[in-house]
Amino acid sequence: MQILTTNNDEQELIERVRAAGQEHVFRFWDELSDQARKSLLSQLREIDFELMAMLAEKFIQSGKSTTAKGELEPAEFIPLPESPDEQVQASLAREAGEKALTDGRVAAFLVAGGQGTRLGFHGAKGKFPISPVKHKSLFQLHAEKIRALGRKYGAAIPWYIMTSETNHKETVGFFEQESYFGLKTDDVIFFTQQMVPALDPHGKLILAAKDRIFQNPNGHGGSLSALKHRGALEDMRARDIDLIFYFQVDNVLVKMCDPVFLGYHVLQNAEMSAKVCAKSGPGEKVGVLGRVDGKLGVIEYSDLSDDEKNARNEDGSLKFQAGNIAIHAFNVDFVERENRGGLRLPWHVAHKKIAFADPLGKRVEPEAPNGYKFETFVFDALGDAGKTVFLEVRREDEFSPVKNKTGDDSPETARRDMVRQYGRWLQAAGAILPENVDGLNLEISPLKALSAEEFAADAAAIKIVDGLYLE
Ligand code: UD1
Repeated sequence: MQILTTNNDEQELIERVRAAGQEHVFRFWDELSDQARKSLLSQLREIDFELMAMLAEKFIQSGKSTTAKGELEPAEFIPLPESPDEQVQASLAREAGEKALTDGRVAAFLVAGGQGTRLGFHGAKGKFPISPVKHKSLFQLHAEKIRALGRKYGAAIPWYIMTSETNHKETVGFFEQESYFGLKTDDVIFFTQQMVPALDPHGKLILAAKDRIFQNPNGHGGSLSALKHRGALEDMRARDIDLIFYFQVDNVLVKMCDPVFLGYHVLQNAEMSAKVCAKSGPGEKVGVLGRVDGKLGVIEYSDLSDDEKNARNEDGSLKFQAGNIAIHAFNVDFVERENRGGLRLPWHVAHKKIAFADPLGKRVEPEAPNGYKFETFVFDALGDAGKTVFLEVRREDEFSPVKNKTGDDSPETARRDMVRQYGRWLQAAGAILPENVDGLNLEISPLKALSAEEFAADAAAIKIVDGLYLE
């Protein structure tokens, strides 16, 4: 096929695409408008063809369409504080974390570039209405926690939000429409992560439409390069921030910028840290913090054999018990270093159904997986950190993600867990509630209280919602 443009740059790009064996992407060239041609070329300009060739070779041509599994070992973590000494350590950590917050050294960082396909919600997942009474969105709950913390510590906590091309406009539009939930607009900074093309079983790019190449966000590992390349690290330095609290959009119970966690991270001179929750049982589908061939990281659920999932320690606890709740702390300097010479996180592959344009340009939804999507994962950076802290926290206080439409980790379980948390806070403050609060409709705004202690301290000021009876 002869494809000519009058522009030398474009001609050179077309030659590059051809040399990479991807000429089929011009299949509909003759039918495309000038604008559609420009759009196709601008997508192609961003593609790293060497990377795509490497991915095709590593995961497709080699026949190894899964990430290789190495020697697995569990990782050590700081357990929930029980002994007096552990309690002292935890309160020292809290002091150090609170000091970092008061000194304005901390930024909140949300990764919200994913597509949320499992939830079946059309739109940016953070817009999902989740709170039990007021139906606040995930974004609003996170925003109010950040506002409350800024007020409590008397220092701005800038909030960096990573989106992707698939939801950037919609996310920013939502914040504008909601007046940034009362946060200062200068303190909410949005940026996009990069996209990466998928490949078909022959290592070819997939046309999603006549003028569009199918691409997906490059995984939350892409947040580390996006922080650097979209200017967020520079912005943090200008604000004298050196600590980043990383969280995912889907966790309704996230303990925002938890001072105890940040404090352990600071006191132990860690570079990247993670929170863990004991797995609820061998079958729970979370990754576990551990070592793969000696290197710290997360072992995905699917990489553990049944024997490994069921293996127990002498005290009866699961051998691989440190469930990854996807909350991290990093130092700004560490993220900078990870980017030196280009981010080198390993790629992971997933065999997926990808809608494509047939030879007539008509969209086809395949019935079986027809392509390979590639992503990098942020926790693969754990092994690069000079020092890490893994801290165990209570699931009921800190982890309830909204992932699936129904069943486990769904809106229903997230609302249930919120109501249970508010119920515990009310009871601790002296409210008389039935033992089982599941049928109740309770909600406490993060702007009223962020913990049981704060709630109890200010219980008289709390407006009880939805007919709850207090004696
Ligand atoms: C993830 C972890 C799992 C952990 C669980 C806890 C992976 C591979 N696994 O699972 O170990 O136990 O969370 O909830 O991460 N995101 C982006 N850009 C992307 C992809 C994702 O910003 O390109 C964001 C999403 O918006 C979301 C978060 O990353 O906030 C998690 O992504 P998701 O794909 O839902 O991870 P899980 O498979 O649920």
